[in-house]
Amino acid sequence: TGAIVAHAPGKLFVAGEYAVVSPGEPSVLIAVDRYLTVSLTESVDAGSIHSPEYSRMPVRWTRGQDGLTLDREHHPYDYVIAAIEACERLRAERGLRPRFFDLYIESGLDDPSGRKFGLGSSAAVTVATIAAIDEFYGFELGTRGRYELAMLATIAVAPHASGGDVAASTYGGWIGYRSPDRDRLRAARTQHGVADVLGSEAWDGAEIIRLTPPSGLDLLVGWTGHPASTERLVNGVSRGTNVTGDAHTGFLEASRECVSDLWRALAGRGADAAGHAVSDDDLALDAIRRNRRLLQGLGARTGVTIETDRLRILCDAAEAIGAAGKPSGAGGGDCGIVLAPADADVAGMLRVWETNDIRHLTIGVHPPEGEH
Ligand code: MEV
Repeated sequence: TGAIVAHAPGKLFVAGEYAVVSPGEPSVLIAVDRYLTVSLTESVDAGSIHSPEYSRMPVRWTRGQDGLTLDREHHPYDYVIAAIEACERLRAERGLRPRFFDLYIESGLDDPSGRKFGLGSSAAVTVATIAAIDEFYGFELGTRGRYELAMLATIAVAPHASGGDVAASTYGGWIGYRSPDRDRLRAARTQHGVADVLGSEAWDGAEIIRLTPPSGLDLLVGWTGHPASTERLVNGVSRGTNVTGDAHTGFLEASRECVSDLWRALAGRGADAAGHAVSDDDLALDAIRRNRRLLQGLGARTGVTIETDRLRILCDAAEAIGAAGKPSGAGGGDCGIVLAPADADVAGMLRVWETNDIRHLTIGVHPPEGEH
């Protein structure tokens, strides 16, 4: 039998970062037209994982008493292992005959020297691995089921991850996202197993909605060249945050307002908070500028550098031409995202970027699932 090949797109956060870690808080993301690919071939008596990025040495796994047994340290493969493990549980619970497979991973989400752009490679490898195994065993998970299984795998590795990147990579296009309660999901998985958690009320509060791309705005992406650690940044912010304090409540409320303005703008029903009609594009630009200010405040309050010098230059250059820019994701490096009106002096902005070693990545949107 031939190989099963699964591609999963990378993602960019547009709005709602950090707030979206709290269950139920809204965010906006897009899936991008750069991909991570997992190829699967059936094997005989052990499985293996191959990736040029991490090592020439494959990681081998077999089945043990308590799940998968690995033949060596597997840190860089955590998300792949967690994805295989979640699929293994589902396979066993569905009474399917166990088989082995070899996985070959190739990431298009890094620059040629191997530095990560910060386009969500952890989520993409999780989603692509699950898509390949879904097809291999014939689980027929569907889009929502793949998101849910990838989410269970993700929180086994990163307990606080919102899963926005998982949702974007699974659904494609522009999405609005609210995260589920991950403590509840973990408890439900332990208590009921994987099969019974899929589609259950443990996902209450999770929401993924399709948004319409803004028609009059162009998307531009700048790469700082500095890979950032989402885990370190998110831990830093949560250490510096008194989550029950007024300042954090204020941040969550203000973020919620920005994001709901953006949802309204992208649904083509632009109106400001007082209900006065404004152009959808102006509403979107304003929401992004305000979200940038909120993240600056969050960084200042928690002592975490979310907006690095290079990200500041990137965003200021956008605002100087009447566009809106902000760090995408956790910040601390990686990419900044810009939405620019069609008549803005984008060439002028790109000259500022170039002078400051900010690389313009030509990135488009990966179409929504089912519309390829
Ligand atoms: C990181 O890409 C975005 C954060 O909101 C974390 C998360 O959503 O898990 C900072």
